[in-house]
Amino acid sequence: MPSVFIKTYGCQMNERDSEAVAAQLVAKGYSLAPSEAAADVVLLNTCSVRDLAEQKAMNKMKNLVGMANKNRPGQILGYLGCMAQSRGQELIDKLPDVDLVLGTQKFHRAAEYLDELLAGTRKKIVDVEAEAKSEATIREHLLNGSAKTSVSAFVSIMQGCNQHCTFCIVPATRGEERSRTIPDIVAECRELVARGVREITLLGQIVTSFGKRDLPAIGRADPPISLGPDAQQCVPTMQLSPFVQLLDTVHEIQGLERIRFTSPHPKGYGDDLIEAFARLPKLCESAHIPLQSGSDRILKLMHRGYTREKFLNIVEKLRRAKPGIGITTDIIVGFPGETEEDFEMTLSLAREVQFDNAYIFKYSPRRDTPAAEMPDQVPLAIREERNERLLNLVNEIAARKYDAFIGRQVEILVEGPSKKNAARYTGRTRCNRIVLFDGSQRHQGQLMDVKIERTGSFTLYGDPAVVNL
Ligand code: SAH
Ligand code: F3S
Repeated sequence: MPSVFIKTYGCQMNERDSEAVAAQLVAKGYSLAPSEAAADVVLLNTCSVRDLAEQKAMNKMKNLVGMANKNRPGQILGYLGCMAQSRGQELIDKLPDVDLVLGTQKFHRAAEYLDELLAGTRKKIVDVEAEAKSEATIREHLLNGSAKTSVSAFVSIMQGCNQHCTFCIVPATRGEERSRTIPDIVAECRELVARGVREITLLGQIVTSFGKRDLPAIGRADPPISLGPDAQQCVPTMQLSPFVQLLDTVHEIQGLERIRFTSPHPKGYGDDLIEAFARLPKLCESAHIPLQSGSDRILKLMHRGYTREKFLNIVEKLRRAKPGIGITTDIIVGFPGETEEDFEMTLSLAREVQFDNAYIFKYSPRRDTPAAEMPDQVPLAIREERNERLLNLVNEIAARKYDAFIGRQVEILVEGPSKKNAARYTGRTRCNRIVLFDGSQRHQGQLMDVKIERTGSFTLYGDPAVVNL
């Protein structure tokens, strides 16, 4: 039977898509190759969000073509995902040795197309068409890949994004928002839990918009926990967005210990979601809230749909609802027209919020996005300089936050042996920090308390013995 190697670029959604493709191929009798060189089929699942990600995948494919021609003629090479979607046939025109280009609504067709290419009944396949109901096709899981994947799993709940931020290519590569149904998602979650999964991360390009087009908001009779039982009479019924309805339903699954989600949009943090953090014990106190900029002028040019004040207000409410919540973010520096003053607004907001971590990106112009055509593009040298200044600030704050864990007892879900040192085991706190400790196989999949003894770079070191004595 043929073997396949899949290399993934980009976000967790891409990791999830690759896993679903791998599981689909394994179910059809394919094996997973240990390396590109040993594989009959090599697939690159690509990212288009920044130019660098596209360049990396294209350079990789050039190398693969060179190696295949030298050592393994007949090896099937393919592009999957976002870059496949946005560039289509152009990828084969550039590199005629590429056999397959499969778009973001077509992952479930991988086995069928590879069978045809391997059998020689078709020479080249490009399929980037839209397909109705494709949002419900990312469902197969491997789970036996690594120890980690058997404890914690990702579930795709929706595809696409309608927000159209002016810098972002995702609405073009992933299409319009389409959501799966709640029963369909819950059935997948239940099956995962039956197979030993204890933590589920709900995934989508804009998860907080889940079901907006298909499901009505519903009222809930009980009052928000934070207001206490005495407040019952004066609390109006809270309207629950479809996303919070989904969280409520997944929360009921017995045996599931932790729920996370990514990626949300700040506008999706309504009172119903903030209250869900206080109300649902399985919903982990960790929120990724993409900021992008601290300047209202730039936020408007980005078409983000919120202001600096609104963002600060969300953070404040979340911290009140769930003290100790970990807050992470994405920030773009050097968006067209960003002045030193605008950038300083971002610095001051980062100082004010004290993010637990922030992913900082230098603005990268993307094809067919409004921002790429805007005047006053910021020179690369300035983008780099701002990137470094913000990174220094964010890292300094993050390190201080890590140090504050020393001496504290935290609950971790143990994922498995650490990749770097097999004698160490790795787990995550509820606020999504990695903890290393001297563990063994029997800890895997367990929720346990550890005491944090010291910190490393974005890592905590814990000692279970101190607690278990
Ligand atoms: N909500 C989406 C965002 C996708 S892109 C999701 O997580 O699926 C992830 C991050 O990349 C964005 O939050 C943004 O900070 C950054 N990004 C997107 N387009 C970019 C561009 N053109 N240049 C630089 N960074 C970008
Ligand atoms: Fe992109 Fe904005 Fe949607 S960043 S994925 S268009 S919310």
